[in-house]
Amino acid sequence: MGKIAPSILACDFSELAAEVETVTADADLLHVDVMDGHFVPNLSIGAPVVKSLRPRTDMYLDCHLMIDNPGDLLDDFAAAGADSCTVHVELGDPRPLFDRMRKHGMRVGLVLNPETRLDAVVPYLEEIDILLFMSVHPGFGGQAFLPDVLDKLRAARTIVDERGLAVELEIDGGINLDTAPLAAAAGADILVAGSAIFGQPDRGAATRAIREAAWGTA
Ligand code: DX5
Ligand code: ZN
Repeated sequence: MGKIAPSILACDFSELAAEVETVTADADLLHVDVMDGHFVPNLSIGAPVVKSLRPRTDMYLDCHLMIDNPGDLLDDFAAAGADSCTVHVELGDPRPLFDRMRKHGMRVGLVLNPETRLDAVVPYLEEIDILLFMSVHPGFGGQAFLPDVLDKLRAARTIVDERGLAVELEIDGGINLDTAPLAAAAGADILVAGSAIFGQPDRGAATRAIREAAWGTA
């Protein structure tokens, strides 16, 4: 059985703690989209929001850093209570960042954009806990799923299984009741969903429905 990670990008930020409570019983982790207006053409939230959220929820905080200089902010995210930070491979050699995340006791994530080849992340598979596949161009919620990513996901699933690695495969962008089964069948362990959960009146039901569409009820 895989995991569901609601993305708080689709929340009402003025009610963030209450919004998070609506998914706590049914979701597995909380996906926190951090955008700097440079690496992606949008601004969102940063470590201060993680710090505010930390005492309000026990949920795993899965921080996706869409920022040019993640190295400048890793200490802040660790201090704020992030459980993992996920950095983009497009920025260059991520190993120094991995080392710092480990020193802070955070789990380590690496993410690749839709146009980035799987080859770019294969050298790091032994060193990470989470490999995140973008299934939209990062920057905005509510975009349409890019199905080409499924081939990369399948190829990664094969490598991870053949090597017996513990890395979790996560997919982010355009996940809904139609695309969740495709992502699960291609080997995803964690499905991120923003608008398909927080855009629904009953977030618990929406989370359960995505889980069921992906992996069935058993
Ligand atoms: C996009 C973000 C996603 C986004 C997903 O840049 O990384 O996590 O919140 O939103 P939906 O599920 O609406 O595509
Ligand atoms: Zn994300």
